[in-house]
Amino acid sequence: MENKQRGQFGSSFGFIMAAVGSAVGLGNLWGFPYKMGKGGGFAFLFLYLIFVVTVGFIIMLGELAIGRKAKMDAVGSYKSIDKKAGFVGGLGVFAAFVILSFYCVLGGWVLKYAITFIGEMFGAGFGGVAGADYFVAFITGTTEPILWFALFLGISCFIVLAGVEKGIEKYSKIMMPALFVMLIVIIIRSVTLPGAVEGLKFMFKPDFSVFSSFESTVAVAGTALAQMFFSLSLGMGAMLTYGSYLGKDENLQKSALIIPILDTLIAILAGCAIMPAVFAFGLDPSAGPGLMFITLKEVFASMPMGSFFGFLFFVLVFFAAVTSSISLLEVICAYFIDSKKMKRKNVTMMAGLAVFILGIPVALSQGMLSGVRPIMGMDILDSFDFIAEYTLMPLGALFMCYFVGWKWGAKTITDEVASSGYPFKLKGYFSFMIKWVTPLLVAFVLYSACISPIVKYFAGGGQ
Ligand code: TRP
Repeated sequence: MENKQRGQFGSSFGFIMAAVGSAVGLGNLWGFPYKMGKGGGFAFLFLYLIFVVTVGFIIMLGELAIGRKAKMDAVGSYKSIDKKAGFVGGLGVFAAFVILSFYCVLGGWVLKYAITFIGEMFGAGFGGVAGADYFVAFITGTTEPILWFALFLGISCFIVLAGVEKGIEKYSKIMMPALFVMLIVIIIRSVTLPGAVEGLKFMFKPDFSVFSSFESTVAVAGTALAQMFFSLSLGMGAMLTYGSYLGKDENLQKSALIIPILDTLIAILAGCAIMPAVFAFGLDPSAGPGLMFITLKEVFASMPMGSFFGFLFFVLVFFAAVTSSISLLEVICAYFIDSKKMKRKNVTMMAGLAVFILGIPVALSQGMLSGVRPIMGMDILDSFDFIAEYTLMPLGALFMCYFVGWKWGAKTITDEVASSGYPFKLKGYFSFMIKWVTPLLVAFVLYSACISPIVKYFAGGGQ
């Protein structure tokens, strides 16, 4: 039974742009470069690539195939294959709410900086305030963080409201190539600054000493694997939902390879844009979240035509963030449209409102609510991130491996992949990995990033 109401991607290119748009986001531009620099440069990249091949590709292919097979939202898809599996999709919808509520707050910060750089070009931007002071004053405020968050969320809703082909696909097809061009421009600017080479050295210098002890190997591996999960939008039904909008003739095996390759490429390029500039100005590369808003602001402030490049950079980050947030929002919308038979327009408004309410405490988590520490002493923003990234996503992926590898048998999925008529060369590999290797590695993330810190926290008396 073909559902005529359901959206569908208009072209293979459009789908790839949308999926890469989902994958490329704040995780790539902000998390990857400094984690790579800190985690041993090439050593980190090497581990990351191993995880892309052993976990990323497998989960990606599994999600795309489940979605295309069932042609439903995350909950409906799992349910239609197995009545007992609907909850896996439910975990994903829940995760989408949690991730969106903090992702859009961060997106709001990016938007604020993009607009302020326009002001800066005309002499009315940051008003000469130093990077750190400006940033702290902004994020600890009350009205501004909420307003920018609302604006970013509103833009995401606007795109999703227009549907799969006329919204998500259309904007991804413009924003992703534009992002790529802007990234190249910034890289050229960045690597031609005097002293830029040090930045490239920081990122790429092979430092295999991270493998010298078992503990540090495990720690770096855990970081790399969790980073890969978040960066590829896996484990919560985003890729599944996009897969459900694909026609039977799409070559899923190829897509599951191209998406991670482009995602990783852009993460590395982001490092080449950011790190040389950071080093050229003698700033600290491991500043974490502050890197983008404090360090880079300083970099642009002291660079010729810096306001223009700053603006370009933050527009680029905004494009990356918004094409990710629409994929999260679509997980929620697809659920209410497919499984609850509601209208896209109503659903998008309601989901937007719900995310807005959930996001207000996150927007205030750096200021007014900074004393609220729900999980292990972390503020609200970090707690939400922890729940989504280290608990719900690995759990979702683990359940997927269980159902596909053990309960249904990999054939359910491999038949779907093969049904498009392209040779499925990696069929044997997929069937083996999803049963044995992938779930073990995912369980490792769940253990090292979630269970072990909680156990340690309580063993230490809540310190
Ligand atoms: N992958 C995006 C990033 O790197 C974020 C993202 C989009 C995401 N959709 C997701 C993360 C689904 C987890 C799950 O920033």
